Amino acid sequence: MGFDHFGWIAPWYDRLFGSSQLEHWNRLLKLPVEGRILDAGGGTGRVAEMIRCGTCEVVVADLSMGMLRQAEKKAGLSVLCSQTENLPFTEQSFERIIIVDALHHVLNQRETLLDLFRVLKPGGRLLIEEPDIRQFKVKILAVAEKVLLMRSHFISPVIIAGVFKGLPARVEIETKGSAAWVIVEREM
Ligand SMILES: C[S@@+](CC[C@H](N)C(=O)[O-])C[C@H]1O[C@@H](n2cnc3c(N)ncnc32)[C@H](O)[C@@H]1O
Repeated sequence: MGFDHFGWIAPWYDRLFGSSQLEHWNRLLKLPVEGRILDAGGGTGRVAEMIRCGTCEVVVADLSMGMLRQAEKKAGLSVLCSQTENLPFTEQSFERIIIVDALHHVLNQRETLLDLFRVLKPGGRLLIEEPDIRQFKVKILAVAEKVLLMRSHFISPVIIAGVFKGLPARVEIETKGSAAWVIVEREM
């Protein structure tokens, strides 16, 4: 791994990026749920903290120890240093999986998506939130992240959805403003 940009801003990350709306997560993920939830590339646990509930175990997996140290301070989250491309979990072990604003940062996006699908239970939901690269604002962000040598690589929600073609999954895309969500439900 090169310079850990996220480890550097981790102490201020939650204040800089704030929280998003719980009703939105509940609707897209069909929460609450009993069982295990994985937040892959979950960083400080900013979103995991919001969606945790009494009936589920929430695991935050991330590559940056600096980000995970912030997640560790939050009650009810288990943290794990791991690459999203090669998750140390057995097949079909999570009821819900999210990857929020992290897919464009990983080294191998296809491997990440397929490994997330591997650990998703039948009937489970995988939610991928990404800035929508088809929007002008996001194109500017992509250039800024290049300048900061962040190795980002944005792909459109249509390309993300295409990775699940041929797999036992129902895939939907939602967009709002400059954000896109790809929702993957694994067939029973
Ligand atoms: C923009 S942050 C998003 C953090 C969190 N999902 C959120 O929305 O608050 C991107 C995160 O992806 C992590 N990351 C980047 N590449 C990764 C990889 N290959 N495996 C695991 N985590 C990775 C970074 O360390 C960082 O914490």
